[in-house]
Amino acid sequence: MDFRSQSASLDALASLTADALVLVIAGATLPADLDKNVTALIKDAIKLGDFDLKAGQALSLARPSGLKAPRLVLVATGAATLKAARNGVSAALAQLKGRGAAHAALGFVGFDAALTESLVEQALLAASDASYVYRHTKPSAPAPGKLVKLSLVFAKEQAKAVKAGLTRGQAIANGVALARECANLPPNIATPSYLADQTKALVKSHGIKVEVLDQKAIEKLGMGSFLSVAKGSDVPPRFIVARYEGAAKTQAPLVLVGKGITFDSGGISLKPGAGMDEMKFDMGGAASVLGTLRAVAELKPKINLVVLIAACENMPSGRAVKPGDVVTSMSGQTIEILNTDAEGRLILCDALTYAERFKPAAVVDVATLTGACVIALGGVRSGMYASDDELAQALSAAGEAALDPCWRMPLDDEYEDGLKSNFADVANVAGREGGSITAAKFLQRFAGQYRWGHLDIAGTAWKGGGAKGGTGRPVGLLTHFVLSQVR
Ligand code: BES
Ligand code: MN
Ligand code: ZN
Repeated sequence: MDFRSQSASLDALASLTADALVLVIAGATLPADLDKNVTALIKDAIKLGDFDLKAGQALSLARPSGLKAPRLVLVATGAATLKAARNGVSAALAQLKGRGAAHAALGFVGFDAALTESLVEQALLAASDASYVYRHTKPSAPAPGKLVKLSLVFAKEQAKAVKAGLTRGQAIANGVALARECANLPPNIATPSYLADQTKALVKSHGIKVEVLDQKAIEKLGMGSFLSVAKGSDVPPRFIVARYEGAAKTQAPLVLVGKGITFDSGGISLKPGAGMDEMKFDMGGAASVLGTLRAVAELKPKINLVVLIAACENMPSGRAVKPGDVVTSMSGQTIEILNTDAEGRLILCDALTYAERFKPAAVVDVATLTGACVIALGGVRSGMYASDDELAQALSAAGEAALDPCWRMPLDDEYEDGLKSNFADVANVAGREGGSITAAKFLQRFAGQYRWGHLDIAGTAWKGGGAKGGTGRPVGLLTHFVLSQVR
């Protein structure tokens, strides 16, 4: 999709020449300075009982009288919030789906001018999301529609905010698309070395530095916990280290860590067969930190960012790790593996130890970690944990600003009690209760050397059912978070 801005004031919408004029309207009354032809059309539609200025109302008109544009699409949002606007844009794009319009001009009515930058960003993200089609192994997938160009209509005085919104929205949209595509690819294609290749592709296009560690190099680092998960598979593991350097080398970097389980069968603690295909999405954390790296490298903020991805398959075999096995992590702590399906924490703990070498300003790991988090928060908010309030606040605020929300979860010491083992420093699972929290408590044992945050995205990284596919979350949250940390 081609996005651009077009300046026009509210009172001159009749002269816009796109294939469709799309208006997203907040509030229960129309502003006095709205174009008089548009106002007349809306009032007439309300009188006919075809439209109302209430949330959820939408109307398409062909050949609207007095307008140059041959189509008018109206969507009412009720509230004047950013979320209402985003939903309004999605509803408007749905109206255009399967129709003939190639170029739409999109205007907002009744929203605060202070929202402009975010409105543009969200409009772009909604349009980009709606135009994404997975084709890699299904080239016959139908095109999402004829719409290829979206002009954002704002008054001249908003030009700066519009430009900033376009830039940020486009970068995040590109990151989201990369994350969605990686997640959607089948696990026989999106292997650990494929993720490494995708990261390497950013070297040329985005000036990123990348180092990929193979099995031998991972052994040398002493990542016994990570390797215990990888060893049941014939597909070799990769540990990916990527760096974006936007500030002086002396400035402590942010580190993002992604769980890259390219297929989670559960291992010897095998998962039930139904729906197991969805465990190809168990690299959603890796996909999202990769997407964020791309977005950040495009926006070039003055900050240093390190991205770490631990990638392998979790498979059963004669060589696989067994319940009862004790392994030694890179930190030196021994771990009794009571359930081989709690593998995410086993690969992340070694990545968290590796992160120490960067003397980071903060480390945030991102993982499709627990089914318990899906039960707790569903698909709306990611679970968020943080070792300090300021970091929690920053992650929370980033999620709200990006409309990619998270919810802080507790880390009381008592939640760690269930992880005690008679045979190792720690067990990899506690009981069923509070499963997302006990997983976080396990990780926290390895994250004591820096400010640490953890996002459990098991409920938000992908959708099941008819719309099965990666969501690209939490690329929006993470990109906003990184931008918020620029000093
Ligand atoms: N990748 C899964 C978590 C998951 C499950 C994400 C379902 C999304 C939907 C993770 O590796 C896992 O299997 N976790 C176990 C942990 C348990 C054995 C303590 C789980 O949640 O059941
Ligand atoms: Mn698992
Ligand atoms: Zn998993």
